[in-house]
Amino acid sequence: MFKVGIIVASDKGSKGERLDLSGEVIKKIMLTEGYDVVDKLIIADEFDLLSQQMIKWSDSGEVDLILTTGGTGFSKRDITPEATQLAIERVVPGFNEVMRSESLKLTPKAMLSRGISGIRKNTLIINLPGSPKAVEECLGCILPGLGHGINILLGLKSECGRK
Ligand code: MTE
Repeated sequence: MFKVGIIVASDKGSKGERLDLSGEVIKKIMLTEGYDVVDKLIIADEFDLLSQQMIKWSDSGEVDLILTTGGTGFSKRDITPEATQLAIERVVPGFNEVMRSESLKLTPKAMLSRGISGIRKNTLIINLPGSPKAVEECLGCILPGLGHGINILLGLKSECGRK
């Protein structure tokens, strides 16, 4: 069972001024998919706080997968991709390519998410957009390939051949 940590990037959420719906959607979907959600944190849109949490979870091996939600847009406070860029050692463009291309079939605003993904040590970090609807749509696109990728990353599988 892969361990998942969820980071909700939200100034208002971190101050208790907004209910976290997107993180809860991620949690529900991942639990349904058989993942072990070990923690969910609501963190202000601050570069250092976000990157340090990603680094902490990756370096300790506490989680195999970090899913972030929010902070990927154009507003001045949206800093999640930059915080992720600092934390990762290897980029993984595929997840966000799929999210944007599939989501564009649903809304032209999909092109406004600047989310990125990558690997630090044995942990995969994936940025999702911030709304509950976007989270649901984007997770649905990437789940089919996710488990295999984590298996390879953790060295649990080495063969990519089709059965
Ligand atoms: N992707 C999907 N699938 N569905 C959506 O509704 N919303 C977009 C985009 N990606 C959306 C989406 C919008 S309106 C924005 S502004 C960006 O994600 C960035 O969102 P964020 O700043 O909350 O991360």
